[in-house]
Amino acid sequence: MAKGSCMSKSLAVGIGVLTVSSVSGLVLMAVMYQIQIEKFPPVSPPTPTKPGIPTGPPTLRLPDYLIPESYKVFFQPYLYAAINNNYTNQSFVFTGNSTVRVKSMAVSETIYLHVHDLNVTTVEVTKSDSNEKLSVKGYTIFQNETNFLKIELATKISGNGTYYDIFTKFEGELLENLAGFYVSWYTKKIKAEEEEEEDQERLLATSLLQPTDARKVFPCFDEPALKAVFDITIIHRPGTIALSNEIGGAHKIEIDGEEWIVTAFEETPIMSTYLLAFTVSDFTYKSKPSSTNINIHARKDAIDAGHADYAIELTEKILKYYEEIFDLKYPLKKIDQIALPDISGGAMENWGFISYQESGLLYDKESGSTFDQELVATMIAHELAHQWFGNLVTMRWWNDLWLNEGFATYMSYIGVENVGWDLRDLIVLREIQTAFQVDSLNSSHPLSLQENYIQTSTEIIDLFDDITYRKGAAVLRMLATFITEDAFMKGIKTYLNKFQYKNTVYKDLWSCLREETKENVEAFMSTWIEQVGYPVITIITQTGETSQEQFLLKQTGGHDIPWQVDIRYIKATDSGVKNDLLRVKGPVRRPHFELKDKDEWLLANVNCTGFFRVNYDEENWNKLRMQLERNHHVIPLINRGQLIDDAFNVARGHRLNITIALSLTKYLINDTEYIPWESALKNLDHLILMFDRSEVYGPIMKYLRKLITPLYEHFENSTINGTIPEKHTDQYNQVNAISVACSNGLPECIDNAKNLFKDYRNGTNNIHPNLRRAIYCSAIASGDEYDWEFAWKEYQRATVTTEKDKLRYALSCTKEIWLLNRYLQYTLDPSKIRKMDLVSTINYIAKNVAGQPLAWDFVRGHWSYLTQEYGVGVISLGSLLDAVTKRFSTDVELEELKQFQREQEEADQALAARALEQVIERTEANIKWVKENKQIVKEWFMGEL
Ligand SMILES: *[C@@H]1O[C@H](CO)[C@@H](O)[C@H](O)[C@H]1NC(C)=O
Ligand SMILES: *[C@@H]1O[C@H](CO)[C@@H](O)[C@H](O)[C@H]1NC(C)=O
Ligand SMILES: *[C@@H]1O[C@H](CO)[C@@H](O)[C@H](O)[C@H]1NC(C)=O
Ligand SMILES: *[C@@H]1O[C@H](CO)[C@@H](O)[C@H](O)[C@H]1NC(C)=O
Ligand SMILES: *[C@@H]1O[C@H](CO)[C@@H](O)[C@H](O)[C@H]1NC(C)=O
Ligand SMILES: [Zn+2]
Repeated sequence: MAKGSCMSKSLAVGIGVLTVSSVSGLVLMAVMYQIQIEKFPPVSPPTPTKPGIPTGPPTLRLPDYLIPESYKVFFQPYLYAAINNNYTNQSFVFTGNSTVRVKSMAVSETIYLHVHDLNVTTVEVTKSDSNEKLSVKGYTIFQNETNFLKIELATKISGNGTYYDIFTKFEGELLENLAGFYVSWYTKKIKAEEEEEEDQERLLATSLLQPTDARKVFPCFDEPALKAVFDITIIHRPGTIALSNEIGGAHKIEIDGEEWIVTAFEETPIMSTYLLAFTVSDFTYKSKPSSTNINIHARKDAIDAGHADYAIELTEKILKYYEEIFDLKYPLKKIDQIALPDISGGAMENWGFISYQESGLLYDKESGSTFDQELVATMIAHELAHQWFGNLVTMRWWNDLWLNEGFATYMSYIGVENVGWDLRDLIVLREIQTAFQVDSLNSSHPLSLQENYIQTSTEIIDLFDDITYRKGAAVLRMLATFITEDAFMKGIKTYLNKFQYKNTVYKDLWSCLREETKENVEAFMSTWIEQVGYPVITIITQTGETSQEQFLLKQTGGHDIPWQVDIRYIKATDSGVKNDLLRVKGPVRRPHFELKDKDEWLLANVNCTGFFRVNYDEENWNKLRMQLERNHHVIPLINRGQLIDDAFNVARGHRLNITIALSLTKYLINDTEYIPWESALKNLDHLILMFDRSEVYGPIMKYLRKLITPLYEHFENSTINGTIPEKHTDQYNQVNAISVACSNGLPECIDNAKNLFKDYRNGTNNIHPNLRRAIYCSAIASGDEYDWEFAWKEYQRATVTTEKDKLRYALSCTKEIWLLNRYLQYTLDPSKIRKMDLVSTINYIAKNVAGQPLAWDFVRGHWSYLTQEYGVGVISLGSLLDAVTKRFSTDVELEELKQFQREQEEADQALAARALEQVIERTEANIKWVKENKQIVKEWFMGEL
C-alpha cells in the first residue's frame, strides 16, 4: 500500500504548508500504536531462531494442516452504475460462490477458513479425486476477532496430502466504508440533447483487501503465506465493465429474464489473498501496448481530458527499468491501474491491477503543480516496486511488513530517478527525518516484531506506520551504503530470484546479501531491525571521546544494547569521507576525532546515510555554524539540513541548548537550497506551534520575516510573472518562500497574493499551479467572506482532484471563526467533503491557530459519530487526535485531555485509548519544554531583531 493513510497524505501536506504546518515537525504520533516498549522490551541481537507459526489458543491464526492450492470464485454484484428509465431499482447486495481446493496434512474433523461480515448460506466438502461428498454436521462463524468460519464434519478428513474441495455460497453487502468490496460514487458530466451539461451521480463497486479484508468478500484462507492461484468470474450489469488481477473476457447472458455480462478472468499466478482486486464500473481507459499491456482506467471525463497520459508514459518506463534492475520479468499478462474517487490510503499494489486515489494517478498539465506530477511518479514507482517486493516475494507474516513497504519506499526513489526525477536526496527530508520523530518516542516499535505479537487485524493495521515505511527505507539505504549499492542490488536480484512466488522472513534477505559482500550483514543489521529506537552519537572533539545512547525525546533512559554504527565523517582540513564502525556503547576514545587546530571542525554522518543523530561539544557546533556562515558550500547539502534537524531535536531531548540550534538557522540568509530550508522550517514550525498564542510569537515572526526576505526576493520575479525556476527543488523552495513570507506578514507577499486572487475572482487565474496552494491560502487568510465563498464555489465546481485539494486546503486558512466553524460542519456531509478527506480537512483547520480550539471542540463533540461512522482500519483516529492537540502545552489543555480520557474510559472506548495516552504524554512533555525554554527562546529572538 502506498502509505495506507500515511504516504500520500503526508506527502500531500509536505509542500507549501509550512509555518502553519509541515510534514513532520510534529508528526510525532501520526499513527496509533498498539505496541509499547514495555510490551516489547529490546531484545539482544542477534538470536537467529526459526520462528514457528503459532497455532492453538490463544492464537488467532489458522491451523496449518490445510494448504490452499486454488480457488474458483464467482461474484455477482447487483449494482447499476447509473439509475435511469431502464434501471430503476438499485441494489447493493452481492452474491457469489467459491470452491477452494486444499491439501490436507492432518486427520481432522474440523476445517477453519476466514469469513467476516458475510453471510454464508451453503457449505459443502468433497474429496477431490473421488467426488465423494463428506457429510457436514454444521458450520459457525465466530463473532470475535478470529473471523473464523468453523466447519464441522461427521467424518474425518485424512492427512497425507489428500485433496478436498470446499464449496461455499455467500451473500454480502457493498457498503460505503472503503474496505472489502465497497461502493463508491462520482459525478459525471452528461451532455443532454439540448446541449446543457448535466451532472449525474454514478456508482461503482471496488475492493481494498489489504491486510485482512479478503475474508469480507469470500470465505478464504486469508493469510499472506497461504498463497494459491485464483480463477475469478464476475457477473455484472450491462453498462459496466469488470476488472480483476488478470486479463478477462466478457460475454452476455440472461438470468431470470434480465441481461447480465459475465467476465471470466484468466487464472492468476500463485499469490496472497490480500493482493486480489475487483472493480465494476462504467470507467473508460487508455492503453499502451507494450511487452506488457498497460491500461489506465478512470472517469471518462478524466481520460478524455488526457489526465492519464503522464501515468501511462511513466508506467511503461518504470516497469521496464525494474525488470532490468531486478533481472526478472513482470509475470502477468497486463497491468491495469485505476484512479478511484474513494480509497483509504494513497494506493494499493494489487497484483496486475493497482488502485490509486485520483491524485496519485491522474495528472492535469493545465492545473497540476510540479509536486502533483511528482506525486504521480512517486506513487507509481512505489506500487510498481511492490509487484516484485510484496507480490512476487511476500513476507511470511505481517510482522515483517517492513520488507514490503520499506523496499517499495526505498525503490521508489530509484525508480523515479530513472524517469527524470532527481529526488534521491529528498529521502532524508521525507522519510528519514520523519522516521526519526516517531522512533524517538517510547511508544515506537522495532521494525520487525516477533510473529506471535501481531495477531489481530487491528495489530496488523497499526503496523502500516512511519516506522514500517520510512524507517524501513532508511535502514535499507544505510545498508546499501554500508555494503555498496552495487553489492546491494546484486543481493536483491538473488533474493527475488530465489524466493519468487514464495514467502520470506527478513533473515532470508541477509543470507542473499551476504553472498555479495564480505561484511557481516546480519550482525550489522540485527541491531537496527530487532531493537526499537535509534542512537544519538555524542562526539567530544577535544578528547575524541565518543559514545552512543538511545535517543528519546522524553528522557526516560533508553535501553542498553549498542547499535553497530557506521560513522562516516569529514573534517575541515581532510579531503574525502572516512569511515569508522562503532560497535560498543562507549564512551570510547577515537583519536582521529580529536581536533587540535582551533578552526578545524568535524562533521559525522555525511549525507545522513546512517539512521542516527549526532551531537557534539558546543565548540564543534559553533565551528560548524561559523563554517556555514563563512561558506556553506563546504558542508554537504544534505548535512546542511541534517545539522539543523539534529540540533533542534537534540535540544528538544534536553541534550543541547536550544540557542545553538536557533543560531544555526541564521546562515540561511545566504542559502537558497530547499533541503536546509525545509529542515529549518519544519523545526521552527514546532516553536511556532508552541508559541503562536503567546507574546513570543511577535519576535519569532519578525525573525522569520527577516530570514525569508532574501529568499522571497530571490524568487520574486518568477512569482510575479508566473514563471517558475527550473530545478524542482528550487520550485519547492519558491513555495516555501511564499508561504513563509505571506504567513509572517511580509507586505509585498500579501499584496501580491491578494492581487493574483482578485484577478482569479474576476475570471483569469494567472497563478502558476505550483503556487496556488500558497497563494490561495494567503489570499483567503487576509480576505473576507466573499473570497471564501468564491473559493468554496470553485472547490465544488472543480473536477480535477488536485485542484480541489488545493482549494480545500486554502479554505482552512481563513481567520474568521464562523467560517471555520461552518467549514467543520461541512466535513460531516459527504456530498460536500468526501469521507476520505474528512480527517485531512479537520487537520488543516486545526493547524490554523484560529481553528485549533474549534477543531478540538468539534472532534470532542462528534467523537462517537466519528468512531462509529469510520471505525478503526478505515482512517486513523489517532492522526485526528494528534492533529487537533498539536499545540497543547498548557495545564488547562492537559486537564481537558484527561477529562476526555475519563469520559472515554466510562464509555468503554478502547479505540482511542492508545492515541489518547500518546497525546497526553506529548502534552506533558510540551508543558515541561515550554516552561524551561520559553524565556530563553524569547530572549534569543528578541536579540536577533
Ligand atoms: C433503455 O433501453 C432501451 C432499449 O433497450 C435503449 O434503447 C436505451 O438506450 C436505454 N436507455 C438508457 C438510458 O440506457
Ligand atoms: C457458482 O455461481 C455461478 C454463477 O452464479 C454458477 O454458474 C455456478 O454454477 C455456481 N457454482 C456452483 C457449484 O453452484
Ligand atoms: C472466538 O469464539 C470462539 C467461539 O465462540 C471461541 O471458541 C474462541 O475461543 C474465541 N477466540 C478468541 C480468541 O476469543
Ligand atoms: C498416512 O500415512 C501413514 C504412514 O505413511 C499411514 O500409516 C496412514 O495409513 C496413512 N493415512 C491415510 C489416511 O492414508
Ligand atoms: C445477512 O444475514 C442477516 C441476518 O439474517 C440479514 O439481516 C442480512 O440482510 C443478510 N445480508 C445479506 C447481504 O444478505
Ligand atoms: Zn506500499
